[in-house]
Amino acid sequence: METKKAEITYLDRNEHQYGPAPACFDALKNLNSETLREYSRDHMLGIKSPLSLRLANDYGIDEKNVMLGFGGEDILKQTIHCYIHEGDKIMIPSYSWWYYKKIADEVGGIKIEYPIVEGEDSFYYDIEGMLKIYDEQKPKLVLISSPNNPTGNRLDFNQLKEVLNRMKDAVVVMDEAYSLFFNDDKSYLKDIINHFSNVLIIRTFSKFYGLAGVRIGFALMGKNHEQLSMFSARYLGYNRLSERIALAALDSQEYYNDICKKMAADMEMFRTEFNKLPGFKAYKSYANFILVKIPVELKDALKKYLTERNMVVKFMAEDGLFNHLRITIGTQEQNQMLMQMVKAFLNEANKS
Ligand SMILES: Cc1ncc(COP(=O)(O)O)c(C=O)c1O
Repeated sequence: METKKAEITYLDRNEHQYGPAPACFDALKNLNSETLREYSRDHMLGIKSPLSLRLANDYGIDEKNVMLGFGGEDILKQTIHCYIHEGDKIMIPSYSWWYYKKIADEVGGIKIEYPIVEGEDSFYYDIEGMLKIYDEQKPKLVLISSPNNPTGNRLDFNQLKEVLNRMKDAVVVMDEAYSLFFNDDKSYLKDIINHFSNVLIIRTFSKFYGLAGVRIGFALMGKNHEQLSMFSARYLGYNRLSERIALAALDSQEYYNDICKKMAADMEMFRTEFNKLPGFKAYKSYANFILVKIPVELKDALKKYLTERNMVVKFMAEDGLFNHLRITIGTQEQNQMLMQMVKAFLNEANKS
């Protein structure tokens, strides 16, 4: 007889726990044979795909300034492989997604770290420090992540403009994989794209739209990216399934906004509850995850306690964030369950 496998709650990879909008499943059900067996002929219309056209309209920019890829990961990789060669300098935030360093290494780029600093209730970009390093090092490419993984902080519009005004001689890549959770205003992007020809803004359907498994993302490109456009061009078209699913997601804004409100409330719940616990500190975050500092002596025992209860969160191990957890905001039920487990763990730890 088959035994039922215990269900594991994964709050470790910033995946959307509510799942994509119902319209995404309808898009899959309504596929026809042509969509599956034929290449797209969109290039004959002078566009990459119906999705790039839709995104261009939504963001108010030209279709040729929209790039499509298999998620932000793919677009980042293509960008670095296109622009960076052995010995070129690339600026990377001190705390950031590990993948940035990996792709810089793939092409022999020289990694220059710039500071993200711990403040009272959040991390922040040290803009002056960042600009000083830029002026000294003259990098070929600057990677900025906003909101940043794992710290959750972001650049505001004025900071972004200040940075872009000063970094005109480099390619500036803004990874905005998590941008939609706490900022649904896209109006500023048109100005940024039209003003700064060196900027590339990467977004994805993986996080806010809950489509990580579909592998689709896009970038909005300033006017100076012909080289990257050519590098990434696909004559035979893009994945016709993912395009349709992504379009259905874009048409389901209400569904996603409702979920986002629940996630925002739970983010507050986590911050309030963790900050009440002695030795814990939960930082302000603009993404779908929260970084929490914990007393270092509890780290191994807490990890064991949660693992035994099929609860997986990310225990950080990098320099400077060694006693930190990164928790993906899950469903309300999952979030409550995690919070109760942490409190039960502390009760037991206090007794022994
Ligand atoms: C900062 C950041 N950018 C990009 C990605 C990749 O997203 P995608 O699924 O679009 O490749 C991740 C994934 O966790 C991420 O943390």
